[in-house]
Amino acid sequence: MNKNFLWGGSTSAFQFEGGAKEGGKGESLYDFFSKTKEGVDYSVTSDFYHHYEEDIELMAEMGFNCFRMSIAWTRLYPNGDDACYNQSGVDFYNRVINKLLHHNIQPVVTLFHWDMPYHLIEKYDGWNGKETVDAFIKYCRTCFELFGDRVKYWLTLNENNLCKLIPFMHTKTKLKSDEEGYEQFKLKVYHNTNVAHFKAVKLCHDLVEDGKIGCMIASSLAYPMTSHPKDVFAAMRHEHSKMYNYLDLLVKGKYNHRECAEFSAAGMSIHQDEEFLLLSSEKKAKIDFISFSYYFSICMHDNDVKIESQAKTMQMMYAAYENPMLEKSSFGWTIDPLGLRIFLNDIYDRYNLPLLIVENGLGVEDDVLETDYSVHDDYRIKYLKQHIIQMKKAIEEDQIDCFGFLPWGCIDLYSASGNKNKRYGFVFVDYDDNYKRYKKDSFYWYKKVIESNAEEL
Ligand code: BG6
Repeated sequence: MNKNFLWGGSTSAFQFEGGAKEGGKGESLYDFFSKTKEGVDYSVTSDFYHHYEEDIELMAEMGFNCFRMSIAWTRLYPNGDDACYNQSGVDFYNRVINKLLHHNIQPVVTLFHWDMPYHLIEKYDGWNGKETVDAFIKYCRTCFELFGDRVKYWLTLNENNLCKLIPFMHTKTKLKSDEEGYEQFKLKVYHNTNVAHFKAVKLCHDLVEDGKIGCMIASSLAYPMTSHPKDVFAAMRHEHSKMYNYLDLLVKGKYNHRECAEFSAAGMSIHQDEEFLLLSSEKKAKIDFISFSYYFSICMHDNDVKIESQAKTMQMMYAAYENPMLEKSSFGWTIDPLGLRIFLNDIYDRYNLPLLIVENGLGVEDDVLETDYSVHDDYRIKYLKQHIIQMKKAIEEDQIDCFGFLPWGCIDLYSASGNKNKRYGFVFVDYDDNYKRYKKDSFYWYKKVIESNAEEL
């Protein structure tokens, strides 16, 4: 393993940061959920806003040389499209970045990890409006100009390869897939996010000296349930629609034949927009690396295509695909370490770009804080160990250029669905007692892994 390999962990602002009403922060989609969705409250989460010093020291103690976080758009622009940025938000991120660098921890910053300013949803229908793209780019410019002297790794939109599955996630429009106009709505939202992506990449290359920027995708590795060609085709189709179509666009700079056909079938021509094609084909608008989350693989049966189109959420969709050959976590996610090696090989062969693992890990509700404040999470160690072994094989035996491993929720945080008991971390956060932090067994194990550059697992 390369001695400059990036070892660390990963978080997002809405799941980790808290401080929802502090420092002039505006309301994001998740703050709106906190008010409206019963039982889900993202306003404090792990309270990184007040614990960042302690947290970064814990990361340093584990030996992190890298930390992935996202910037809350509403902390810099409370309404998303304000005339001026909010200085107090900038000050907060400066403090965090400087503290990280003080400990030789490189920040990797996600520009959009789903916490859309609520005002933009109300005013422009979120990503359905071009104005949202303009506001996003203004916010990105601020990030690059104010933090780009110190932040050299950037990610654009979190898991945007799944945008077409849930286009209504960041819009006021809540069209259902069987309603009239849905296809046009879905493709417009998707296209706008792609314009946002290309513009952000280009801007980063223009403004950040030595800056590297990548996309972030949810890996969607699918196996055929049987060797029947129909199942093989179903699995292949799944991977095309959930991954390759999107990556083809970002890497090659134009929608591939399948997506062009989708736009045409919906009677649309935005995909051929001259200005867009000029932008997307520019060298400066091309990503430097591909980052991704990898938690599980799925298994496809010909009939599952139906399940897929009917599933209301991503989780429902994945939970539907059993693989009889693999164990599952208590959340129904398959445990497939070799799948990580397969995925790394597959994506590297296709796109030949450096790869960064920015999410992996075992989220379970089993962590128990013992009376002596220890947490015995051997199941987590086992999961991560198996995945690191496969990653190492991909790097050392298959010659894959994978340059970092940043497991998800390195310090406990809220799950995307708001479940605070689904924990991934090396550090336990006691939500019931002042957000106190406790080192789990996996903390000491991961420290050794980093220290030995994965010689000691
Ligand atoms: C990814 C997201 O999809 O998976 C994270 O980028 C999310 O935001 C993670 O938290 C794990 O999913 P969950 O449902 O366990 O939070």
